[in-house]
Amino acid sequence: MPANLRERPTIIIIFGSSGDLTSRKLLPAVYNLFLDNWLPEKFALFGIDRKKKSHEEFRQQMRVGIDQFSRRPIADIKSWEEFASHLTIFHAADFSDPTVYSKLAEELAQKEKDWKTKASRVFYLAIPPNMIETVAQQLRNAHCADESDYSRIVVEKPFGSNLESARALNQMMQKNFKESQIFRIDHYLGKETVQNILAFRFANSLFEPLWNRRYIDHVQMTVAEQLGVEHRGGYYDKAGALRDMIQNHLLQMMCLIAMEPPVSFQDEEIRNKKMDVLHAVRAIPHEQVRNFAVRGQYNAGWIEGQHYPAYREEAGVKPNSNTETFAALKLFVDNWRWQGVPFYLRTGKRLASKVSEVIIQFRPVPHMALSGIAVSDWQPNRLGIRIQPDENIILRFQAKRPGLKMSLSTVDMRFSYKDSFQTNTPEAYETLLLDAIEGDSTLFMRADQVEAAWALVDPVMKSWESTDPDFPNYPSGNWGPESAEILIAQDGRSWLQSPTTEKKHVSDSKSDSN
Ligand code: BG6
Repeated sequence: MPANLRERPTIIIIFGSSGDLTSRKLLPAVYNLFLDNWLPEKFALFGIDRKKKSHEEFRQQMRVGIDQFSRRPIADIKSWEEFASHLTIFHAADFSDPTVYSKLAEELAQKEKDWKTKASRVFYLAIPPNMIETVAQQLRNAHCADESDYSRIVVEKPFGSNLESARALNQMMQKNFKESQIFRIDHYLGKETVQNILAFRFANSLFEPLWNRRYIDHVQMTVAEQLGVEHRGGYYDKAGALRDMIQNHLLQMMCLIAMEPPVSFQDEEIRNKKMDVLHAVRAIPHEQVRNFAVRGQYNAGWIEGQHYPAYREEAGVKPNSNTETFAALKLFVDNWRWQGVPFYLRTGKRLASKVSEVIIQFRPVPHMALSGIAVSDWQPNRLGIRIQPDENIILRFQAKRPGLKMSLSTVDMRFSYKDSFQTNTPEAYETLLLDAIEGDSTLFMRADQVEAAWALVDPVMKSWESTDPDFPNYPSGNWGPESAEILIAQDGRSWLQSPTTEKKHVSDSKSDSN
């Protein structure tokens, strides 16, 4: 038996199997898990779809998605056919029809009877938020997920659209299932480089002693996209950057950067430590929002030689929309470790480049013994954790330039995923699906985390809703609105470029050897 092969029979049930998420992310992930032998021999995938189609049509549709979006193409006909034989489709014209679920319960029971054993059941709700309650209640009524050790419900974001709706959603889910069965996905947590933040911090002794207010001046977190809203204008126009990216991905990453060392890597332990961070983040009072948060919306502009329309011209977007496509926040973590250290978070669409990264800016040396020309090029130490693309970690420090005089230059010490591991990295959804199959919820969000994150962004949303912004306020291809520069400049700082994108290497600097 191949080493990875999991023993417990598994059935994945996808509600919304003809949606984008299924063909772009879920099926490619399942296919790659299959190729890498992470799935058991007794494995089935049921698609539940509102459109009527045959098993063959469903398999073909999934094949097209895998061909287009999988990190590895269809390997060969034989392995594809073997994989495809595990896929079946169920027609459900109406997700609120109880007979759909009684039939599903029968099918699940029949599979287990054929296999002569119980199977793990992973119900994946790849459906619009307004349908989650219906499906959850029907699953419960039909007793599909009664055995909590065997059944899990995976829910996609958004988890509500503010604190109140997130609370209601959590209560509804917890009425129908145990919290341990509910897997709320934040795909950023499945990214290799995001998981590596934990490894970097807690499997090395070098950085942790410096990881606090005594040595760190501030932290910057950027998730910049060149993409606009693509075909998701309808959803995005009701969400905006704060809800779409900061409430979840950026705050979750911030927790990993700011959390205390865990006692173990068990799911509840990690989630408790992250929760402590969210508790400690200083609330932004309504009347001070403008000092801590800024927003922007893209206008038409150029990115890498291509012209793009303004946000308000995108399909599905209101022509007078006030939805933000850029948001930046300054946050403080009020605890012993981080008191006084600002965390600057920013994200936006149609920005100059695609980059997700964390930059830790260390404090200057307490006393500079070298003086004058020697330190003209001096900069404090900086650690860049590049989440994507060009996944890497770069430590910037000072070195003496070659030459007869003492003169410093900044240089980089670099770890690149590609160079060090030379392997095809799994997609976030592969990690997360496998974890859901195995019942490991470490990388999933607990109800209290979701609510704490909403509690932080709620005052900002309310304040923004109460005033009309001057949109659009940045051209596509820029780094966001001027107000974002001012937010950080008023603290005497500026947004830093990742060391990789700057051309500053010792080899570039002039030697003073003569
Ligand atoms: C999603 C957002 O959660 O993350 C999208 O809804 C965004 O708007 C996407 O484009 C970014 O993810 P990634 O993995 O491409 O950085």
